[in-house]
Amino acid sequence: MHILVTGGAGFIGSHTVVELLNQDHEVTIVDNFYNSSPKVLDAIKEITQKQFRFHLVDVSNQEQIIELFENNEFDAVIHFAGYKAVGESVSKPLSYYFNNVTSTIHLAQACVDYGVNKFVFSSSATVYGDNNVPFKEDMELLPTTNPYGETKAMSERVLMDAVKAHPDLGVSLLRYFNPVGAHPSGLIGEVPTGVPNNLMPYISQVASGQREKLFVFGNDYETTDGTGVRDYIHVVDLAKGHVAALEHLNAGTHIYNLGSGKGTSVLELVHSFEKVNDIKIPYDIVKRRDGDIAISYADASKAKNELDWETKLTIDDMCEDTWRFESKRVTKRDI
Ligand code: UD1
Repeated sequence: MHILVTGGAGFIGSHTVVELLNQDHEVTIVDNFYNSSPKVLDAIKEITQKQFRFHLVDVSNQEQIIELFENNEFDAVIHFAGYKAVGESVSKPLSYYFNNVTSTIHLAQACVDYGVNKFVFSSSATVYGDNNVPFKEDMELLPTTNPYGETKAMSERVLMDAVKAHPDLGVSLLRYFNPVGAHPSGLIGEVPTGVPNNLMPYISQVASGQREKLFVFGNDYETTDGTGVRDYIHVVDLAKGHVAALEHLNAGTHIYNLGSGKGTSVLELVHSFEKVNDIKIPYDIVKRRDGDIAISYADASKAKNELDWETKLTIDDMCEDTWRFESKRVTKRDI
C-alpha cells in the first residue's frame, strides 16, 4: 500500500514509518517540523535502509493537502500530525482546536474527494476522562479536562460522521494509552520541548542530569503505593498496532484501545528505570497535579481479538530503550 503519514517525523509517527517500511509498504511522510526535526528522516533511513518520500506540508492548510492528493495516489492515510501539549492547550485553546480539528477535516475531505478509503487516526485514552477502569471502547466518553483531549474527541466525531455519510470509507480510531520507550537502535525517540510534562521523559532527564530530581504528583491516591497508575506502552508495540489496524481496515468505524491492559504506578516505573539502567532517580513527593486521574489502563482485548495484535515489550524494555536513546542524544545533541 502507498500510505500518507502526517507527522511522520514525530515520536509515534517516525516509529510507525519504520514498521511500515519494514513491511514493504510505500510511504510518503508530510511534516512541518513544528515539533520534530528533519534529522529524524535520516535516522529512519539509517534504521530501515529503505526509501520514502517527504513533503514539507502544513496539514491545517487545505490548499497544500489538495495539491498533495492531486499529485499522488494514496491507498491510506495515517494522521498523527497535531499539537499535543496538554498544558499549552489550556492557554492556547483556539490554536489547538483550529490546528487539530481542521487538519482532520481537510484530510477526511481529501480522502472522500480522491477515493482514499482507509484512514487511521491517532486518538488518545484521554477521551475516556474519569471513567472506571479498565477503559473499554464502547464506554460513553466523558469530558476531558483540557482542550487537547477535546480535539481528539472532536476529531473522532468528525470521522465517525464522515463514515456515516460515505459508507465506503474505513476509519480506525486508535486510542493510545501512555506511549514511552524508543527504537532499540537508539536513533529515534521522544524529544520533548522545554520541561517535560510526561513522566518517562522527565525521569530520563533526571537520569542524564538535566534535571535535579523528579516530582511525584501525589502519593495519596487509592492505588497500591498511593501514586498514579497508568498503562505504559512501548512505542514500537504501538507502531506495530498501526500496521495491524491498517492491514485489517475495512469500511466503517473501528475503535481500538492500544495499551497493554496493565497498570504501573509512578514509583514502580521509577524503580524499574533505576534497576535496568543502574541509575538512581532522586524524587520528592509533591501535591497532586490538577486534572490528573488516579488510574488509567486499557481493556486491550478488542485489538487482540480483531487485529491479532497485543503488546510484547515490558516496562523494563521501555526503561532500557528510553535511556539508550536519551543517553545517546545527550552525548551527541543532534536530534
Ligand atoms: C498525560 C496527559 C494526557 C495525554 C498523555 C500522553 C495530563 C493531565 N494528561 O497523561 O492528556 O494523553 O499525557 O501520554 O497532562 N507524573 C509525576 N511527575 C511528573 C510527571 C507525571 O508524578 O513529573 C505522574 C502523573 O501524575 C501520572 C503519571 O505520572 O500519575 C503519568 O503522567 P503523564 O506521563 O503526564 O501521563 P498522563 O497523566 O497519563
